[in-house]
Parts: sequence; C-alpha cells; structure tokens
Amino acid sequence: MDRRSFLAAGVATVLASPRAIAQMKMDEMPGMDMGGHAGHDMGAAPKSAAMLPEGQALRELPLLANEANAPRLFRANLTAEPAMVRFAEGLDTPILGYNGMSPGPLIEVTEGDRVEIAFTNRIPEETSTIHWHGMPVPADQDGNPMDPVATGTERTYSFELPEGSAGSYWYHPHPHGKTAEQVYRGLAGAFVVKPKADPIPAEYRDTVLVFTDLRLAADGTMPDNTMVDLMNGRVGDHVLVNGQKNPALSVPFGTKRRFRFYNATNARFLRLSFDGAPMTIIGTDGGLLEAPVAAKDVLLSPAERLELIVSFEKPGTVTLNMLDYDRGWMGAGRPADAGLTLLTVNVSDTPAEAFPPLPEKLRPIAQLGTPAVSRRFVFTETMTMSATDMQMGFLINGAAFDMGRIDVVSKTGQVELWEIVNKADMDHPFHVHGTQFQVVEHERGGQVSKPAYLAWKDTVNVARGETVRLLLRQDRPGRRMYHCHILEHEQLGMMGVIDVQA
Ligand code: C2O
Ligand code: CU
Ligand code: CU
Repeated sequence: MDRRSFLAAGVATVLASPRAIAQMKMDEMPGMDMGGHAGHDMGAAPKSAAMLPEGQALRELPLLANEANAPRLFRANLTAEPAMVRFAEGLDTPILGYNGMSPGPLIEVTEGDRVEIAFTNRIPEETSTIHWHGMPVPADQDGNPMDPVATGTERTYSFELPEGSAGSYWYHPHPHGKTAEQVYRGLAGAFVVKPKADPIPAEYRDTVLVFTDLRLAADGTMPDNTMVDLMNGRVGDHVLVNGQKNPALSVPFGTKRRFRFYNATNARFLRLSFDGAPMTIIGTDGGLLEAPVAAKDVLLSPAERLELIVSFEKPGTVTLNMLDYDRGWMGAGRPADAGLTLLTVNVSDTPAEAFPPLPEKLRPIAQLGTPAVSRRFVFTETMTMSATDMQMGFLINGAAFDMGRIDVVSKTGQVELWEIVNKADMDHPFHVHGTQFQVVEHERGGQVSKPAYLAWKDTVNVARGETVRLLLRQDRPGRRMYHCHILEHEQLGMMGVIDVQA
C-alpha cells in the first residue's frame, strides 16, 4: 500500500470502528489537549440542517475607532470575548468575537503610523494573544505563543509601521494549542495599512471582503473538531463573506471596484472567479504589485490575501463563485466547493460616472539580492495506528513543534533562500512571521517555473509534491514562527521557531 492509501485507510478505520475510536489515546497526539472534551465527536461532522439567509446587503466591516488625538498615532482597544450571533433563522450561535463581532472590526491605519492596541482576554479559562499576521512588528509585540495573555488580563501591543509597509494584513490569536479553535470560533479581523499616496484612484473605493468558514450543528452551536478536521483542517458547511452568506452588492454598470480578498478560514482553499466581470490583480499579502495583471481566476490558500480590481461592464447579475481545486483531501467527505456562490453583484442599468483608468505602473518592487545562506524545510505527514492508539503528526524536517526549541538561528538583514519541500500528500500553505518574502521558483515533477509576477507575500501554498523557493530577509531581531497555515496542522506540529539575532 502506498502512503496515501495507508493514510486514507487509517482514517476510514478510525471512522468505521467504534472500538478503535474508544481506544484512541487522544492525549498522546502532539499539541492536543483533550482534557474536558470527553464528548469529542470522532466521526465525520453531521450535516448541518441550519439554513442561512442569503441575499442581504453586503455589510461593510465596522472600523475600529481611533481613540488617539494626535497625528500619526492609532490607539484602540480590542477584547476577545464570548458573544452570541444569529447566523441562521431562530438559532443563537455562541462565538468568540473581537469586541463582540466576527470578523473583528476593520483596523485601518496609514504607513508611518504608530499603533497602540490594548488587548483584553475575556475568553474563559484560555490564554490568547493577538498576532499581527504579515506585519513588520517587533518579535515581542507579535503575539507569539511564547507570550500568552492569560484569561482576565490585559496587555498593550505597540509598534511603528515603517514607510513602504502598506498592505492587506490581518490579526488573529496564536496561543499554544488553541489557535485553530479560537479562529474557527470567530477570532480574526482585517488590518489594512494604507499608503501615504495611493496610485489607485479613489473612485474605485476599497472594499474588504473577509472570507470565513462556518459549521453549525442543528442547535446552532459550532461543533468541536473531528478526526477528519484534524487531518484535513476544519472545513465547514458555509463560506461567509464579512460574516454573511452570499450577500448582495449593487453597483451602476461601468463601475470599477477595488476589493481586498482575505482567506481567514482555517483550512479552505478558495479558488474564485467572477462570472461575467473581468478581474485584475493589483496586490498580494504585502501590498501592491509593480503593475496590474489580468486573471481569469485566483487561488487563495488559507491566510493568503489579494487586491483586485473588478470591472462591472454590463448590467445584470454577476456572481463570485468557487471553482474546484484539488488540494489532496484525505479520506471521505471532500467538500463540494465548485459552484458555491459567495457574493452576488447586481449591476444596474444606470451608467456610472466615468472611472479614471487604472495606472499602468503601481509601484517599484526591489528584488531581494543574492542569498547569503540557504535553508531547506521538508514537510511530511505521519500517522501510526496500533490496536490501542493512533497518532497523527505534521512535521517540518522530521520534528513536531516544540516551543522550547530553536530550529533555525539567523541574522537580521541577511538575505536567505528558503526551500520549502512538500513531501506530503496534502497541500500545505507556508507562512513565516515578521517579514514579507519573494517567491522565486516553483518545482513540481521535475518542472521548474517562475511566478507570474514579482510580489511581497507572507503565505504561499506549497502543493503536494512541490518545492517552493523564496527569498526573505528579517529586519528585526527575535523569535519568529514559521508554519503551515492550515491551523489544525499548525496545532499538530507543523511549525518551527527561527531566532533572528541582532
Ligand atoms: Cu497567521 Cu503564525 O499566523
Ligand atoms: Cu503570521
Ligand atoms: Cu498543512
């Protein structure tokens, strides 16, 4: 049996045999704390009966208010706390929210600003942190698992956003062993850093679309993760846009609209296209490209972002749809994503005022120079079954995450070539904290290819059997995490620590 069918057979055995389930020693799985979860459902998730209303007007994410009264200073409070929301008719769903909402409030600042955010953890009995995904912040302000904020306590995160750091970042918790659960229960928000001078005309507006994933049980609650979720990463029953299912947006025809797409799901791969409206990519995780690039469809693996211009050229209905993408699903229950509509745009027959053209050049991106060192990170999956237990592991260079271990020692200001080798059977989106990198090469089945454009990114999908080579430089000292951004894989060990020395 090859490894892939071995793994699939393993899952099938576990799911089919109540005895095997009863005998699994779940507490032996790395990074898992099963205490207090005796009723954990080990099988596939029950299909949810809950219906979510569709077609409501797309809500704009509420802005986190700036409480500072000084120029170039952003000061605010964020509280992680239990909240109640109504996704489905007549059903209350307990969630975790930032300031009571999910997605959390939109944070919008300008490059050069100083940011001071007081964070209060009101999640009962759990530590948390806020991690500023993709942002150039000092290591001790980055919400690492090594810096937990205990329940009932508060801490302030402060950092200065340098010139040139404009981009589409986000924020989410990163506590040891609890990141996946706190995120799927609702903790995630968008953090937009605006440039001082924006080359995109203001008429295009700027619409943030945060995609999250939701699974509801028949009583409206969110079920715990199952074995299938731990294996593949949690994929729910609904993909929401700014917390709504298939909301509607109305625009006059001729409108050109700037969107920021955020994949804030634990584990959903979003391959998307607008049916009936051309898309142009203008930016990635770390800000604008050098020049716009037309795209038929786009793939956002978990944690990736894109900035796009969409042209609504004729009256009628345009939908944003999911297309099929095979990321190496393990076992049964591969979600049927193809054809799901995430957003409906009603293009009226009143013509829009003329839109200024999109500039041909957006900004220069300096290529990172010749690397001083190169490093190799090999991703593997392991699963061992015996009569009495089962262990699943997601490893980097053969090791599972250990908070007390430093995996790589590096130096500030040094350009490095990182080779991410996926020897596993599933795609794994690779992410590193504290900086933005440039992908230089993909290799799969002996074929080497270059990315379609030069871009700043902090997350890149590494398909099964693929090697991705990227250049990166860390400019600030301290410990940084790197990991697979399928959050269940991160939890089960696919994470390491790099210590960047001054
Ligand atoms: Cu989105 Cu370790 O991060
Ligand atoms: Cu991050
Ligand atoms: Cu992974």
